[in-house]
Amino acid sequence: MKQINLKVSKSYPIVFLKNLEDLSLNLGMHLQQQKVFIVSDTNVAKFYLDSIKTLLAEDKILVHSYVFKAGEEQKTLGTLSRIIKYAVSVGIDRQYTVIALGGGVVGDIAGFFASVYMRGLKYIQVPTTLLAMVDSSVGGKTAVNTDSGKNIVGTFYQPECVLINTKFLQTLNSRHLKNGMAEVIKYAVSFDDKFFQQLKLIFNKSVISEKDFENIIYKSCKYKADIVQMDEKETKGIRELLNFGHTFAHALETITEYKKFLHGEAVVFGMIFVSKLAETISYAKKGTTKILEDILIDAGFDIKINSNYNADRFFAIMKRDKKSISNKIKFVLPKKIGNIKSKIEVDDKTVLNLLKEVLK
Ligand code: GLY
Repeated sequence: MKQINLKVSKSYPIVFLKNLEDLSLNLGMHLQQQKVFIVSDTNVAKFYLDSIKTLLAEDKILVHSYVFKAGEEQKTLGTLSRIIKYAVSVGIDRQYTVIALGGGVVGDIAGFFASVYMRGLKYIQVPTTLLAMVDSSVGGKTAVNTDSGKNIVGTFYQPECVLINTKFLQTLNSRHLKNGMAEVIKYAVSFDDKFFQQLKLIFNKSVISEKDFENIIYKSCKYKADIVQMDEKETKGIRELLNFGHTFAHALETITEYKKFLHGEAVVFGMIFVSKLAETISYAKKGTTKILEDILIDAGFDIKINSNYNADRFFAIMKRDKKSISNKIKFVLPKKIGNIKSKIEVDDKTVLNLLKEVLK
């Protein structure tokens, strides 16, 4: 079984499992007591919750579970408060380990719950979407959204382990698979031109094989782990690199109230925006945006936003980004494919003019 050991304030493994049956064995190994509280959503629970509960019961593990309606618009303090109320009502105490069984939304909210409930429970990430496997389940960021913006309230709280099993992808629809692919492309554009070329070849095949998925996920987790190890709490300008395209993406998700675009789809537009911005100020090599757009089209993305958003309002939301300092956005910009830099300031007028152009 392949494994990546992440060494941060607390060391933990990212384990790549072959079968669903391996899940209960590996969960068992990381529990402090034989008691778990599974948090999941309706999309995932309908396929997997019963079989996982059965496997755990066979191993004499006591299970409680809470399932909430799937969707980014559910990643709220309201949902968190309902999970807390339920957990109290069934007697979840500090002996329980929380299992985040689901995609990015489940991982973020279950992780946040684990970090604050009774001042902290242990938790395990079991990502079931490509996006969660390659990004959100690794690195300990937890959060919920509020009316003011995406991930405005959250914690850095590392899990006991991340258990990745590509078999979960079999029930993922093509829109959600592409959603995760946006984050995979992000790693390639950010750090590795060779990986970028490999992805191009993969996207041009009629079917992406299980082996391709395994390689893509392993490579992405490796990048994620390397970056998080260098800058766990995002204080050194290194972890920000993982947010390539995200300031724009988060504003797009906020302005559309999390209803129109999946996170990865918003990141696609965000990567194109910062690439255009970098070319506008002659920071990026000419033609970088075209190369980026071409791979996104190969991966099946629509690269036009096709909606009208007010550029001034959009800009104001971007300025509330967590990476902004004194109302100044710090951009992550590409120099060329495989090479990006963080903490770059661009004057407001240039940003606003480009926003007016791309948001029309
Ligand atoms: N998804 C970006 C990070 O974990 O830092």
